[in-house]
Amino acid sequence: MLRKKFLELGYRRAYSVGRQSVTKRILWSTSLVAAGALIGITGGTYYTVSTAREALFPFSSKTNLNDVPAPTYLDTRFHLNDFTRELQKVVNKEDMCSTPSELEGHSVNNYTLHKPDPEQRPYLIVYPHDTEHVSQIMQLCHKYSVPVIPYSGGSSIEGQITATRHQGLPMGSCTEPTVTLVLDFNKYMNNIIRVDANDLDCVVQPGVVAKDLNDLVLEPLGLLFGPDGAPNCEIGGQIGTSCSGTNAFRYGTMKENVVNVTAVMADGTIIKTKNRPKKSSNGYNLTGLFIGSEGTLGVVTEATLKLHVKPKFETISIASFKTLQDATQFVQTLTRQGILGVNAIELLDANMMKAINFSGQTTRKWNENATLLLKIGSHNHAILDETIKDIENLSQTQNCIAFEYAKSALEQEELWSARKAIFWSSIDYGRHLFGQNVKVWSTDIAVPVSNLSTVIDETLAELTSSGLYGTIVGHVGDGNFHCLVMYNEGNEDNAMQVIDSMTLRALRYDGTCSGEHGIGTSKRKFLELELGPNTIAVMRKLKLALDPKRIMNPDKIFKTDPCDDRP
Ligand SMILES: Cc1cc2nc3c(=O)[nH]c(=O)nc-3n(C[C@H](O)[C@H](O)[C@H](O)COP(=O)(O)OP(=O)(O)OC[C@H]3O[C@@H](n4cnc5c(N)ncnc54)[C@H](O)[C@@H]3O)c2cc1C
Ligand SMILES: *[C@@H]1O[C@H](CO)[C@@H](O)[C@H](O)[C@H]1NC(C)=O
Ligand SMILES: *[C@@H]1O[C@H](CO)[C@@H](O)[C@H](O)[C@H]1NC(C)=O
Ligand SMILES: *[C@@H]1O[C@H](CO)[C@@H](O)[C@H](O)[C@H]1NC(C)=O
Ligand SMILES: *[C@@H]1O[C@H](CO)[C@@H](O)[C@H](O)[C@H]1NC(C)=O
Ligand SMILES: *[C@@H]1O[C@H](CO)[C@@H](O)[C@H](O)[C@H]1NC(C)=O
Ligand SMILES: *[C@@H]1O[C@H](CO)[C@@H](O)[C@H](O)[C@H]1NC(C)=O
Ligand SMILES: *[C@@H]1O[C@H](CO)[C@@H](O)[C@H](O)[C@H]1NC(C)=O
Repeated sequence: MLRKKFLELGYRRAYSVGRQSVTKRILWSTSLVAAGALIGITGGTYYTVSTAREALFPFSSKTNLNDVPAPTYLDTRFHLNDFTRELQKVVNKEDMCSTPSELEGHSVNNYTLHKPDPEQRPYLIVYPHDTEHVSQIMQLCHKYSVPVIPYSGGSSIEGQITATRHQGLPMGSCTEPTVTLVLDFNKYMNNIIRVDANDLDCVVQPGVVAKDLNDLVLEPLGLLFGPDGAPNCEIGGQIGTSCSGTNAFRYGTMKENVVNVTAVMADGTIIKTKNRPKKSSNGYNLTGLFIGSEGTLGVVTEATLKLHVKPKFETISIASFKTLQDATQFVQTLTRQGILGVNAIELLDANMMKAINFSGQTTRKWNENATLLLKIGSHNHAILDETIKDIENLSQTQNCIAFEYAKSALEQEELWSARKAIFWSSIDYGRHLFGQNVKVWSTDIAVPVSNLSTVIDETLAELTSSGLYGTIVGHVGDGNFHCLVMYNEGNEDNAMQVIDSMTLRALRYDGTCSGEHGIGTSKRKFLELELGPNTIAVMRKLKLALDPKRIMNPDKIFKTDPCDDRP
């Protein structure tokens, strides 16, 4: 009993700050020995250290949550001043910010439907200059056990940038108040370092806005970078969430579009994951490990990205169908026919078309039926025309009730405007149904395309029977769809229940709880259901191996603190 207590306290000491704590730990175990503990001074100290290590690295290929002690972060009562003083030596005053509005702005965005608690705010925002600078800052955060959240566009919506370890309020019974530092790349680390049109790659810093990279730099060269999220999302965050978006059907997700990264590990070590060739069969794929890691393993400070050739000729076509099933069937047939040149296939359900039509944000009116929007491209106009003919012909055999394609840039713009209007149109329609204070919750799941229409139909039926309203937009080529659930105040529990049920439905149909938005804090329990506890325990093993103090974006993707009692 006493021994157990001793060991527990031992872990905590081993976790506290820097060299100072070593002395403290020795003094501390000495006093325990004096109080009649079982182990001698030197033996006791040694034993404490090695046991703390064993606790983090149990002799097993996995780490269960209850195998590890709670993390110990910087204790604001004792070490905050020391930490701040040392930080001020490596970061200029003008590169730190802690005004309430900035802290607020780095915690929530207007699309975050998973809002953090009001007190979940970071303590300080720091604007690093370069990789070396990030390394210096991380060395200090590591020394003082300060939680760090890397921040790029801030558009992630599953609670990825929530400061869970907020100042003054311990989150669980074993955790003391601490502070969280945000590393923001938007002031200095937002440069495009090199673009190579012949090798089709480019080197960028994490704060580069993907849309700017495309519009300002690549478009004039006839090139494109595929993955697209929110209009303001940036490369660092796109790596964090393995972003995909409308182009992923043709060009892949971030997982297929990052060649190598430079990363700063939790203790400040700088690594480069690989060299420049697109292929390499050497060793573990550390590039891949960082993609989708949501800032929990290290800080990406530079990335080499794959580029694609932008189709010289492109058009948009729109097809409406009697049922969702007809629409998804059409997509499968199209794919099976091997028709090339389809670069995006977006599905908007009848509810969504109704909302768009209702809100009048677009210049034209729409059929209120299940609709596919297709982006079709080619290097050759004649081939593009043939492809359109093929698709139109196919539509005649697939219960398609209307088919048209844009014949000018203006018409393309007009057709694609439906896709752009989805969010605000849905909200407009929600206000019409539920009043000005309508609430919206958007979730993202993916299933095999063959099961997509069933999953959407069942979901909408459940929504409707619960007195809610939902609109659907899907990257249907990938079986991925978003449901925007609208409800009025007082109906939150209902909404939550239907959304949970939709996520479980995705899993029942061999799907995933998130196709592209990631896990953050809001889908941890679903990821565990999806992959099983052993897979999560192996991920936790990796996390603890690379970040034993658990300072990198704590509490995201899966739990690493046995005292964390949130879902
Ligand atoms: C309106 C809207 C539409 C969206 N549409 C799509 C869509 O179509 N497809 C899609 O995939 N997503 C979409 N998203 C989600 C979001 O845009 C993506 O998840 C995007 O990749 C987030 O990028 P960001 O730069 O904003 O990341 P942030 O929110 O800044 O960060 C995301 C995660 O990455 C980590 N991170 C950030 N920078 C670094 C770094 N340098 N090193 C290590 N970790 C880092 C963060 O800690 C966090 O965990 C949408 C969001 C909104 C609001
Ligand atoms: C967020 O929404 C609020 C209220 O609707 C608005 O005032 C603000 O400008 C919006 N912020 C951004 C960044 O769009
Ligand atoms: C490694 O992972 C990256 C990112 O997921 C991927 O693009 C690449 O193809 C993988 N393999 C190699 C050999 O780099
Ligand atoms: C990727 O490899 C190239 C070639 O070695 C190198 O110039 C570049 O710096 C690397 N990128 C990163 C992010 O390490
Ligand atoms: C298309 O939608 C309209 C409006 O909801 C509906 O009346 C019509 O029956 C639908 N068309 C078909 C073929 O299902
Ligand atoms: C689209 O909306 C307009 C105006 O709100 C309406 O007149 C029209 O009937 C709607 N179209 C369909 C197919 O319902
Ligand atoms: C249209 O499709 C049918 C079968 O679905 C096929 O027999 C016919 O050749 C196609 N026509 C053209 C012009 O491709
Ligand atoms: C998914 O669709 C396939 C093909 O239609 C079907 O065989 C399978 O049973 C479906 N899965 C579930 C869970 O219903």
